[in-house]
Amino acid sequence: LRTAAVIPAAGRGVRLGPGAPKALRTLGGVPILVHAVRAMAAARAVQVIVVVAPPDGATEVRALLDAHGLPESTDIRVVPGGEQRQDSVRLGLAALPDDVDVVLVHDAARPLVPVETVEGVVAAVRGGAPAVVPGLPLADTVKSVDPASGAVTGTPQRALLRAVQTPQGFERDLLAKAHATVTQDVTDDASMVEQLGVQVLVVPGHEEAFKVTRPLDLVLAEAVLARRRAHGH
Ligand code: CTP
Ligand code: MG
Repeated sequence: LRTAAVIPAAGRGVRLGPGAPKALRTLGGVPILVHAVRAMAAARAVQVIVVVAPPDGATEVRALLDAHGLPESTDIRVVPGGEQRQDSVRLGLAALPDDVDVVLVHDAARPLVPVETVEGVVAAVRGGAPAVVPGLPLADTVKSVDPASGAVTGTPQRALLRAVQTPQGFERDLLAKAHATVTQDVTDDASMVEQLGVQVLVVPGHEEAFKVTRPLDLVLAEAVLARRRAHGH
């Protein structure tokens, strides 16, 4: 049985500002999506990749991946995505071959995730945890607020919080069930599994697995990439 990575890359990247869809913008001259696909393909634990392209961009994305010469050893498929991230992930799951039993969901917008983080998530799922997310302690104190007035309604104890990243890893049947039954708006896949009452495990994330969301994140990503290249990676 094989492990697959579904890479949702269909978002527009509104918070990054005007321009091409976020996954197609470049980092060190290479599209963000290509970095993300390479990061997944670099993990020996991953044998299948499903890229979820912008709804009208599947042909362009296929051509882009072919042009960047990705490893022959990985089975890479491209499907068009949907309106919301959840829709895109669901469409990606529908394109998985039958012999996949473990699925990672990895944001294309996290192009620099280290291979150790990917392998760690797969190992935890293969080790018996049905749902696994990489996470890091927070630097900032977090408040809940009344968004209308700005009034603070609470301060969760920081030591009990984790900022979670991707790849998030799941037993395939569990994630498929979550996507078939949970209809609420959510911002990650693990929260859908939580709603089924299944325990989710947090394993160590990595600073370099940060999400490229706003313009400053691109500055950081370029710097991380330059540092890697200076060290011969
Ligand atoms: N995504 C997707 N389909 C959507 C929306 C998002 O596949 N309809 C993907 C994005 O391409 C990204 C990941 O989900 O790789 C995480 O989403 P986010 O960082 O929010 O990216 P965008 O939605 O593109 O950015 P924004 O919210 O700023 O528009
Ligand atoms: Mg978004």
